[in-house]
Amino acid sequence: MFWRIATFLLCQFLPALALWNIAPSDQQSVDALIAAIAGCYVWLVWDAMRGKRLLSWLRAGDTTDIPLGSGLWGEVFDRIRKLVRARDRAALESERRLQDFLAGLQASPNGVVMLDVEGRIEWFNQTAASHFGFDARRDMLQHFGNLVRDPGFAAYYASRNFQLDVKMPGRNSSASKPVNLSVHLHPYGEGRSLVLSQDITSKEQAEAMRRDFVANVSHEIRTPLTVLSGFVETLQSLPLQADERSRYLDLMAQQAQRMQTLVSDLLTLSRLEGSPLPTHMEWIAVSALMAQCEQDARDLSRMLWTQSHPLRFTANTVCEIAGSASELQSAMFNLIGNAIRYSPPDMAIEISWNSMADGSAVFSVKDYGAGIAPEHIPRLTERFYRVDRSRSRETGGTGLGLAIVKHVSQRHGAELEIESSPGKGSRFSITFPAQRVRIAVSATDV
Ligand SMILES: Nc1ncnc2c1ncn2[C@@H]1O[C@H](COP(=O)(O)OP(=O)(O)OP(=O)(O)O)[C@@H](O)[C@H]1O
Ligand SMILES: [Mg+2]
Repeated sequence: MFWRIATFLLCQFLPALALWNIAPSDQQSVDALIAAIAGCYVWLVWDAMRGKRLLSWLRAGDTTDIPLGSGLWGEVFDRIRKLVRARDRAALESERRLQDFLAGLQASPNGVVMLDVEGRIEWFNQTAASHFGFDARRDMLQHFGNLVRDPGFAAYYASRNFQLDVKMPGRNSSASKPVNLSVHLHPYGEGRSLVLSQDITSKEQAEAMRRDFVANVSHEIRTPLTVLSGFVETLQSLPLQADERSRYLDLMAQQAQRMQTLVSDLLTLSRLEGSPLPTHMEWIAVSALMAQCEQDARDLSRMLWTQSHPLRFTANTVCEIAGSASELQSAMFNLIGNAIRYSPPDMAIEISWNSMADGSAVFSVKDYGAGIAPEHIPRLTERFYRVDRSRSRETGGTGLGLAIVKHVSQRHGAELEIESSPGKGSRFSITFPAQRVRIAVSATDV
């Protein structure tokens, strides 16, 4: 402020002094006054120009420096510039935070949609876009209620009662590939809303599977139990001949055996689900697995059919396989057991182990029995699925065998493949990956 007054005074005093010295003595005071007034105007113009430069700088929002030097305007400029810089820094920081926040929401596995007070879409993440079929360029600022037209959701949206969520099909849902969403609207702020959507398809499928599983297990156990209790009642209430009695006891033993098989299969499945994956440390000779299968197969065939099927076991190499011996044995024998159960005893069954050029190996069981209609094939590995319940029941099947085979295959990184044609027979094969197969150490020594 001092310099401002000083320059103002100097602008009047210096020209006045100069003219005082050079003007004729009778005009000295008039000329000096005129010079002082002119100096005053010059100062005013110069000061106004500095003020104008600052004003233009403020209007343009330009962040470059303008050299206003010292003085009042210089200081005003300096202070404003500092304030503007602090504001820019704060704006940048909040922009960065906003971007971080939006990136976090973008990465969310759930759909997030932000609505303004009018219910128009202000922002949504990629997951919400795929759930509701939104397009970022087309649907921004559109009314959410106009874009999501599911009747269940429309009723929920209109009710304005958002305590619970609502279930609705996703935009890409189809009969063959259903997509189920749970959508929950949360009001916040002053009339705004946050819509959260979650894909609950697999959760619902798991829940349905659990329900089916419990219903199936109960049904499978109830049937032999009913038969057993019927026989017990008969034995208790009727005086029976020895041969009748022994026939009933045989039938009771069959039912008890059925329940035992069911429980043991269920335990196998739960063990498979609960135990860690088989390592690559334990190497098992395929010939030993095949030999055990052969012996069990002959016993089973004789037990079920009184005569043994023509069984052909072949292997093109002497291999070892990495995994769990008991699991592999159970999977391989399940396939052979099915071939024995579901084909007549005069039909051959071919069991083979083939090492492939890429290092993988295929274990396959081929029979010439009844075969399976194509519509059943995709469902065969479902738990309790049987093509012909009565036929399977006659032969003691619970419908868990192929579920176990599939599980064991997956645990060994292998793939189960089923080919079958009704009346011609079936071929079940498990392809083991190269990492789990090697030529037997003893075979390479030879
Ligand atoms: N080789 C086959 N030939 C014809 N049908 C078969 C064959 N293998 C399986 N199936 C059909 O697939 C169904 C499912 O087989 P899976 O082995 O899972 O159950 P299961 O044999 O009925 O009972 P278990 O649990 O005792 O094995 C069988 O009920 C049968 O109808
Ligand atoms: Mg079976």
